[in-house]
Amino acid sequence: MESISVYLVGRELLEAFLILLPAYVSNPTAVVFGGGVPIDFGRRWKDGRRILGDGKTWRGLFGGTLSGGVIGILFMSMYSRYSPTFTIREAYGEWTTFLFMSFWIAFGGMVGDMLGSFIKRRRGLRRGEKAPGLDQWDFIIGAFILLLPFPWFLKKNFSGAYSIVGLFLLLLLTPLIHRAVNILGFRLGLKKEPW
Ligand code: CTP
Ligand code: MG
Repeated sequence: MESISVYLVGRELLEAFLILLPAYVSNPTAVVFGGGVPIDFGRRWKDGRRILGDGKTWRGLFGGTLSGGVIGILFMSMYSRYSPTFTIREAYGEWTTFLFMSFWIAFGGMVGDMLGSFIKRRRGLRRGEKAPGLDQWDFIIGAFILLLPFPWFLKKNFSGAYSIVGLFLLLLLTPLIHRAVNILGFRLGLKKEPW
């Protein structure tokens, strides 16, 4: 009995991760594609500080959204192919919805990242300065904000008891995942700071 529930929670954890994978991927790939014109075009907020800063660029936004969507679609397709229980139809409905949702969640990750930068700038933090909490969760928060117009999707995938526990564990693990990916990016010379 106990091992069954551990298995079920583990499966829900993995499925929550795979559903949100586009957002987990868009953040680090934005670093790879990023550079060039900043999203705020260099403009300033009323407080005299940059709206988002030079760390948020159009290239990063598009590159991150596209690669997050594509990689999410690839992994989810593979998973649903080999999982005896998980189906795209059940999780997303139509196949086209699955494609849309993957890019939408990748974009949500980018929106969360931008919101994080917006808040950092309002707090007077310069580009790249640490903001514990925000840096680690902003992209997931963004993904969920963009999922709010789709309550059926949240209900289908994040409402069962096991799903909620799985999602909770995933959120607890997220700073570790975030940190590991950033250290990797730093070592590869892609990122200026290991956070
Ligand atoms: N990046 C980008 N466009 C995005 C997001 C990220 O070009 N939309 C690139 C930038 O080169 C950025 C790097 O990825 O410097 C790291 O991203 P992140 O840590 O989110 O930005 P920071 O430079 O730390 O800036 P901030 O303080 O605003 O978070
Ligand atoms: Mg940063």
